[in-house]
Amino acid sequence: MRIFSGIRPTGNLHLGNYLGAIKQWIALQEKNECVFCIVDLHAITTPYEAKELQKNILETAIIYLAAGINPEKSIIFVQSQIKEHPELAWLLETITPMGELKRMTQFKEKSAKHKDYVNAGLLNYPVLMAADILLYKADAVPVGKDQEQHVELTRNIAKKFNQKFGQTFKEPASMILKEGAKIMSLTDPKKKMSKSDELKSCIFLFDSPEDITKKILSAQTDSGKDICYNITKKPGISNLLTIYSLLTGKRIQDIEKGFTRKGYGEFKKSLAEVIVQYLEPFRRKQKELSLREVYVEEILKQGQRRALIIAQETIREVKEKMGLI
Ligand code: AMP
Ligand code: TRP
Repeated sequence: MRIFSGIRPTGNLHLGNYLGAIKQWIALQEKNECVFCIVDLHAITTPYEAKELQKNILETAIIYLAAGINPEKSIIFVQSQIKEHPELAWLLETITPMGELKRMTQFKEKSAKHKDYVNAGLLNYPVLMAADILLYKADAVPVGKDQEQHVELTRNIAKKFNQKFGQTFKEPASMILKEGAKIMSLTDPKKKMSKSDELKSCIFLFDSPEDITKKILSAQTDSGKDICYNITKKPGISNLLTIYSLLTGKRIQDIEKGFTRKGYGEFKKSLAEVIVQYLEPFRRKQKELSLREVYVEEILKQGQRRALIIAQETIREVKEKMGLI
């Protein structure tokens, strides 16, 4: 199978990005042909610092590598380095109904959040994402739950193109984990963990052990004192149990048993240790790789070369079918 996924280079990634998306990528690369993109053209649809962008792109590449993506196997590249992405997005925009774009949950959420930044790029964001995926004729797209709607739109666009211009694209499936697809905020467990929220609400992959411990100890929990999973009545503890289970591989029931008659404090202390230990190799590899910028840049260049071959072939086929060549 060919797999495609991407993350916006908006600075430090958090545990939600890792558990919802990147962790699956690592497993998938063993048996599949994987393409992992750093989607900088998506990152500029919400307010950002131009001066910071190149640094954030490199940091995201380092995160991909530190998390275990193998550049010998998988393609890692930067979206804006392949002009075929915005080119295909334009072509697909001409067959995408405006109404569908206006209905997208992420568009509504982001335009409510950045009221003075509701640009056309934000509306067209999902078409660029469809172009990313379709350009590589991907079979599957591993993402967190919040992106499911965009992958569904991608399938609709592919179907419509095929009907109008002849069989060209596959209809890609989204791959969404049962657990981990939506890690919640530490300060408000009814909202998803998101880097645009306050710092205390997120565990970043490169947080220091002290910061991790502080954030987990002050994470919002629920009334009562039992460590038991109950998403509606105890969203705080349930979220922490999910993280515990995903990082240790233990079943939630077994973790609950281990903490019978122990309080939230003890559970949180143990969870903080689990996270600190799990993330330790990330911090180490990140430090190593930040000293090897040239090496990371070379990986991105090589990724661009490999991705370009596929992208050029698809765009040629699409333009031919649309009567542009
Ligand atoms: P973003 O940072 O929005 O570009 O998201 C990158 C990837 O992480 C996407 O596949 C998202 O679905 C996933 N993701 C983001 N936030 C979370 C979260 N809180 N829980 C699980 N997955 C998430
Ligand atoms: N829109 C995705 C997000 O927020 C990022 C993204 C862009 C993506 N292009 C993609 C994900 C293609 C998967 C496939 O998080």
